[in-house]
Amino acid sequence: MSETFTKGMARNIYYGGSLFFILVFLALTYHTERTIPERTNSELLTESVVRGKLVWEENNCIGCHSLLGEGAYFAPELGNVFVRRGGEEGFKYFLPAWMKAQPTNIPGRRQMPQFNLTDAQLDDLTEFLKWSSKIDTNNWPPNKEG
Ligand code: HEC
Repeated sequence: MSETFTKGMARNIYYGGSLFFILVFLALTYHTERTIPERTNSELLTESVVRGKLVWEENNCIGCHSLLGEGAYFAPELGNVFVRRGGEEGFKYFLPAWMKAQPTNIPGRRQMPQFNLTDAQLDDLTEFLKWSSKIDTNNWPPNKEG
C-alpha cells in the first residue's frame, strides 16, 4: 500500500462514497414508497376519511395540535386520540361530545375554541382520526397519552 494519500485516492473515495450513498438513498426511497400503502392502510381511505381531513385542515386543528408529531405543541397529540379516548366502542361518542363541549372555561386549563361543526362534519372527523390512529408509525408516540 502506498505511503502517501494521493489526489487520485481522495477523488475515488469522494466519487465512490457519493455513489454508494446515493444508491442507498434511492433503495431506501423505493422501499418507503413501496410500503406506504400498507403502512397507511390506504384501502381504508374512505370518502368520509378524506372529507374529515378537509375539516381538519379548514379549521386549522394543526395550529394547536400535532398529528403524528407534525404541527403545534400547544394542545395534545391527536394521532392516537382514537385509542386514548374510547377506541372502536367509545370514540364515536367521545369526539362529538368533546367538540360540542368546548370551550370548557375551566380556570387554569388551556382552552379549545368552539368550531360549531355539523353532525356530518363530526362523523367525518371521527373517521379521519380513526384512520390516522391505524397508520403504522413503528409505535410512535411511545405512550397513548401522546
Ligand atoms: C386554539 C387551539 C386549538 C385548536 C385550533 C384546536 N384545539 Fe383541540 N384542544 C386544544 C386544547 C388546549 C386541548 C386540551 C383541553 C383540555 O385538556 O382541557 C384540546 C383538546 C382536544 C381533544 C381532546 C384530546 C384528548 O387527549 O382528550 C380533541 C379530540 C381535540 N382537541 C380535537 C380538535 C380538533 C378536531 C380541532 C380542529 C377542528 C381542534 N382540536 C382544534 C386546543 C385547540
